[in-house]
Amino acid sequence: MDRNTVALVTGGSRGIGAAVAVRLAEGGADVAITYVSDAEAAGRVVKAVEALGRRAVALRADAGDAAEVANAVGETVRRFGRLDVLVNNAGVGAVGPLEAVGAGDVDRVLGVNVRGAFLAAQAAAARMREGGRIITIGSCMAQRVPGPGGVLYATSKAATIGLTKALARELGGRGITANVVHPGPVDTDMNPADGPYAGPQAAMTALGRFGRAEEVADVVAFLAGPRAAYVTGAEFAVDGGHAA
Ligand SMILES: NC(=O)c1ccc[n+]([C@@H]2O[C@H](COP(=O)([O-])OP(=O)(O)OC[C@H]3O[C@@H](n4cnc5c(N)ncnc54)[C@H](OP(=O)(O)O)[C@@H]3O)[C@@H](O)[C@H]2O)c1
Repeated sequence: MDRNTVALVTGGSRGIGAAVAVRLAEGGADVAITYVSDAEAAGRVVKAVEALGRRAVALRADAGDAAEVANAVGETVRRFGRLDVLVNNAGVGAVGPLEAVGAGDVDRVLGVNVRGAFLAAQAAAARMREGGRIITIGSCMAQRVPGPGGVLYATSKAATIGLTKALARELGGRGITANVVHPGPVDTDMNPADGPYAGPQAAMTALGRFGRAEEVADVVAFLAGPRAAYVTGAEFAVDGGHAA
């Protein structure tokens, strides 16, 4: 990765986003992360990036709030002078049967997972130059829904595919790529490997285990780098074979 690369990782304070932030810094990027509630966790990621000799900043920005998303993009450019990589990672989980999903749940989950990702991509694209990268974190649930209880989450994550493909077409002429990474079950606060739904999820994968956030981050880092210049509009399952 070019040493001048500047990345913004939404929801970069914990889990997959935190691993992505550190991995991009290892590759030579300065990194801005957003978070919404856990400032201490965000501060730890900033320190981890700085320990790698790169610049970092944590910005409080709710992905469900259009003004805060736009401000996070603007602040990244103000601090670091440019924006090359957006990792649209901020997301919320949702589990429950169809009849238990309220309109407020729909607004909240689509507001972060879909509207937030859309607005961040829109704001970032306006600031990117040739070589820019937009990588959105989807889910294995966007490709294959293995049982009941995921209707709201799967709906939200399926939208990351449409967003990505349309962005690839929209931005290809400017040399900006857009791709989506679909993690399988990954051990994070959202989906702990010792949680109540862990056993069946691990059993759904070909490898029979949860993934680690770093295993997702490695694929994101590849897509963010110069060797992925001809990759756009594509889906990457990092799911232990969940979709196999
Ligand atoms: N873990 C899995 O098994 C799995 C599988 C497939 C897809 N994914 C997707 O991967 C992404 C990351 O998931 P994760 O498991 O790493 O989740 P996580 O452990 O819950 O971490 C979520 C991160 O996003 C931030 N965040 C939450 N809501 C936000 C909002 N409204 N605005 C800005 N930031 C927000 C959190 O910040 P605070 O600390 O401030 O709350 C935290 O940094 C999500 O899009 C998720 O849907 C996860």
